[in-house]
Amino acid sequence: MASTSETRDRGDGIAAILALLGVPGLISFAGGFPDPATFPRERAATLLAEFAASGETSAFQYAPTRGLAGPLDAIASRLEATQGRRPTDHELLIASGAIEGLELVSKTVLDPGDVAVIEGPTYLGAIMAFRGYDAELVAVPMDEHGLEVDELERRLAEGLRPKLLYTIPDHQNPAGVSMSTERRERLVELARRHGFLIVEDVAYRELVFEGDALPSLWSLAPDVVVQLGTTSKTFFPGVRLGWAVGPAEVSAQLVNAKQNTDQCAGALGQRLFEEYVRRGWIEEQLAQSRALYRRKSERMLDALDRWMPAGTSWTTPHGGFFSWLTLPDGVDSTDLAQRAVEQGVGIVPGGLFYADGSGADKVRLSFSMVDEQQIDEGIELLASLAR
Ligand SMILES: Cc1ncc(COP(=O)(O)O)c(C=O)c1O
Repeated sequence: MASTSETRDRGDGIAAILALLGVPGLISFAGGFPDPATFPRERAATLLAEFAASGETSAFQYAPTRGLAGPLDAIASRLEATQGRRPTDHELLIASGAIEGLELVSKTVLDPGDVAVIEGPTYLGAIMAFRGYDAELVAVPMDEHGLEVDELERRLAEGLRPKLLYTIPDHQNPAGVSMSTERRERLVELARRHGFLIVEDVAYRELVFEGDALPSLWSLAPDVVVQLGTTSKTFFPGVRLGWAVGPAEVSAQLVNAKQNTDQCAGALGQRLFEEYVRRGWIEEQLAQSRALYRRKSERMLDALDRWMPAGTSWTTPHGGFFSWLTLPDGVDSTDLAQRAVEQGVGIVPGGLFYADGSGADKVRLSFSMVDEQQIDEGIELLASLAR
């Protein structure tokens, strides 16, 4: 079956990226991993010791499928504080990461042949999730203000009938751009008018470098948006913890679907995160993470300015982990990635972020995990290869 081998090919692509990350000594702009410097080692140890000493059982036991009451309450309170809307008990569930949220949404919403609109480019994990349920993927392009909502509207007028639309409105992976408020408002109106579900992935939302985040799509239109969140980039991914919040009837279906995937997200991670939120530690970690990633981003952008040949352009992120590079005419990104890794620099060729194999002139650069001191050297080398 075409879709199966396609999925396998994409899976191989991810495996190749992960393999690149493993090469010792590589200056890697490849993976979208958080910087280990942000991991809350001591606080995690403190909390574990407390759980053990207090005789608490919930952290060590199976949890209800929707999530433990305390962690659900902590996440609901955070959504209220950061997005201005508190979900009801029937709208929120705790998932084993945003990637599980994508799987659950695909399983409940998509029938074979249904149209899923994605951003071009988008997160490979989402392409794989939708492909896994035999959806037809239709990409709508992006510019520096995010998804081109005008273009979407035009295609809807021409008869496009999506079941869902997947977007990463904040500091997009891989494009490093955010959707403007005006486009957010128009997008939710289109969803209401044409009856499709918006799947909003907020993986990088809280990692804004300066100022406040823009209104979330879910806060604008909780009737037509399922938001998928993760603690992977702001807490630590070792707990595999996220949330899905959306209309009560959709949420109930996600809970049903979760019963025969992993039944519940790990209770230990749920309890650790709950305490982290209640003690205000998450805010402290976020402040440090934002400053760290901002510094790294600026350093990488400076190096790009300094070294990249004429004809190269890139996006300027205001948060998150990524900048998206357009190579000069005639430079192929897969070829560049191959030559770069031979010289000790890891990058991800743009083709991995499109469902149709385009993106040969694009490269995703991640500044999140690369050693700060090696950013200049890595970009200089990359630029010499691009030249
Ligand atoms: C846009 C986006 N969504 C989801 C994920 C995965 O999140 P999680 O670790 O919670 O599964 C990532 C991780 O790279 C991502 O970039």
